[in-house]
Amino acid sequence: MNQQRTTNNHLLVTGGAGFIGSNFVHYWLNEHPEDAVVVLDALTYAGNLDNLKELESNPNFHFSQGNITDRALVDRLLRDYQINTIAHFAAESHVDRSILAPDAFIQTNVIGTFTLLEAFRNYYPQLEGNGRFLHVSTDEVYGTLEPDDPPFRETTPYAPNSPYSASKAGSDHLVRAYYHTYELPTLITNCSNNYGPYHYPEKLIPLMCINILLGKPLPVYGDGQNVRDWLYVLDHCRALDTVIRKGKPGETYNIGGNNEVKNIDLVRMLCDLMDELAPSLPVSPAQELITFVKDRPGHDRRYAIDADKIKTELGWQPSVTVEEGLRQTVSWYLENRHWWEPLLSEEYQAYYQQVYQTSA
Ligand code: NAD
Ligand code: DAU
Repeated sequence: MNQQRTTNNHLLVTGGAGFIGSNFVHYWLNEHPEDAVVVLDALTYAGNLDNLKELESNPNFHFSQGNITDRALVDRLLRDYQINTIAHFAAESHVDRSILAPDAFIQTNVIGTFTLLEAFRNYYPQLEGNGRFLHVSTDEVYGTLEPDDPPFRETTPYAPNSPYSASKAGSDHLVRAYYHTYELPTLITNCSNNYGPYHYPEKLIPLMCINILLGKPLPVYGDGQNVRDWLYVLDHCRALDTVIRKGKPGETYNIGGNNEVKNIDLVRMLCDLMDELAPSLPVSPAQELITFVKDRPGHDRRYAIDADKIKTELGWQPSVTVEEGLRQTVSWYLENRHWWEPLLSEEYQAYYQQVYQTSA
């Protein structure tokens, strides 16, 4: 990146080689081509430079491989690139992995967020009031809903149920405290389940798409009646842009897709779309592959977001229905086999074996 260039915003995007972070970087440089974006990513199993390949020649894009717990590195990036906005996505993000091995979740999600906050606290005075620290969090911090409960609001008490959601809750509390104690201009967003391009295969939607294409069983946890509120990732990126530009420091904004679907219905929709869009499938109709498997321990029954605050105060609302978004996503997995095939690595096979007691 040319550091002499005059730009509007200089963003540090942590976790920018992951699923949502990479979609956000593409989105941002498309919408704000004069801005500069620095990605800081440790390239864990979930980070993938292929997600950012098209940006390699963009002079306003810079990639730094490193850990958010490395204070000296964070200090250097803030200073060298004159960062005025931190968009913090980096996290261990998969609930099933947090059940198998919670340590990394505490290190990255809690200690990593703390490290970024401390670095920003030290650096912020030189920004003369123009900085922003956006913390991207999850609706899982609110716990689980009964079928007739109202959706999560920003005022819903925290009740995290997995090591993952507990670590995200811890990080949210730190971010909130840094606004109240040190008057840092922090913003928190809590969003529902994202889906779309560059989604790592371990998560429900890409896992089902890939298994259908490979003719492998489609493992549905428990009775398949758990509900998630699906948010198309580009709608999420638009929401984060809105919060960075118009959000009020110290506030939390819930972001949801207004698309509540039971897991089993979602898997059936994916099967039907694959039957329609794939030129040929190893097993067809794909619904024959659906297999009910042992439930996830502590599996939250239902998530749903009330996104009224961001809608009324900042003017954002989701634009993609789950039917449209799933069609686009299925098409993307069909057209981008070269992206997902290398991800079915030895590490992934070992993980899959541990969770599903069968090979991927
Ligand atoms: P992801 O797992 O796809 O990507 C995480 C990225 O962070 C990877 O590129 C990884 O290499 C990087 N990373 C991990 N540990 C790091 C460390 N210590 N230092 C630097 N980089 C590190 O995650 P995602 O699904 O894109 O989620 C992004 C953020 O959004 C997370 O904070 C997650 O909690 C939150 N979120 C995700 C969803 C969802 O549906 N995926 C929903 C709500 C909130
Ligand atoms: O709600 C936001 C959260 O959404 C984010 O904070 C997390 O980072 C993200 O991973 C996601 O968490 P979930 O646990 O909801 O997503 P996952 O894709 O793992 O599972 C979605 C649902 O599908 C959940 O009810 C579990 C179920 N499931 C998942 C897998 C991987 C299955 O039935 N079978 C599976 O093989």
